Amino acid sequence: MSEMNNIILCGFMGCGKSTVGKNIARKSGRRFVDMDAYIEQKTGMRISEIFAQKGEEGFRDIEHEACRELAEKSNAVIASGGGALTFERNVQVFRGKDLIVFLDVPLDVIKFRLRNDKVRPLLQRPDKDKVMAELYERRYPLYRAAADVVVAGRNTPLRTALAVMDAEKRCRK
Ligand code: S3P
Repeated sequence: MSEMNNIILCGFMGCGKSTVGKNIARKSGRRFVDMDAYIEQKTGMRISEIFAQKGEEGFRDIEHEACRELAEKSNAVIASGGGALTFERNVQVFRGKDLIVFLDVPLDVIKFRLRNDKVRPLLQRPDKDKVMAELYERRYPLYRAAADVVVAGRNTPLRTALAVMDAEKRCRK
């Protein structure tokens, strides 16, 4: 693990990948890249527009391309999209090359954080609580399997960022 390059944050929507990632970048001198923002810039479309026009499958293909392109970076901390690392083809892009970190946050905290969400396409539906619970249950083992390390993410973003950096140092040894 001494050649670990980028830090890839994965986990459920609302687990704090972007906020924690920005804190890691600030503290470590890495650059921060948000995968969804990268996709929006690359396509000139909002994530919600991509879902509306190309469906989830179309979005997943674009997301896979983004993973391949972002894996070319070095010294970056990358906040992946919440679904990205639940697909084996995306895990393979980063595995062994970068450090994959799962930010583990309990479902009740996630539900609270996302209670007023108006942008995530998967959550714009009346049965959103049920959908979140099902997705969470299905994805949890996938995040764990994808990750080199699991870091508890319900603390403040700064504390979580420091915990990720500690874990990264331990992996380098
Ligand atoms: C998704 C999560 C979103 C975004 C898209 C799909 C998912 O990213 O990629 O709406 O499948 O969980 P965030 O985790 O940054 O919200």
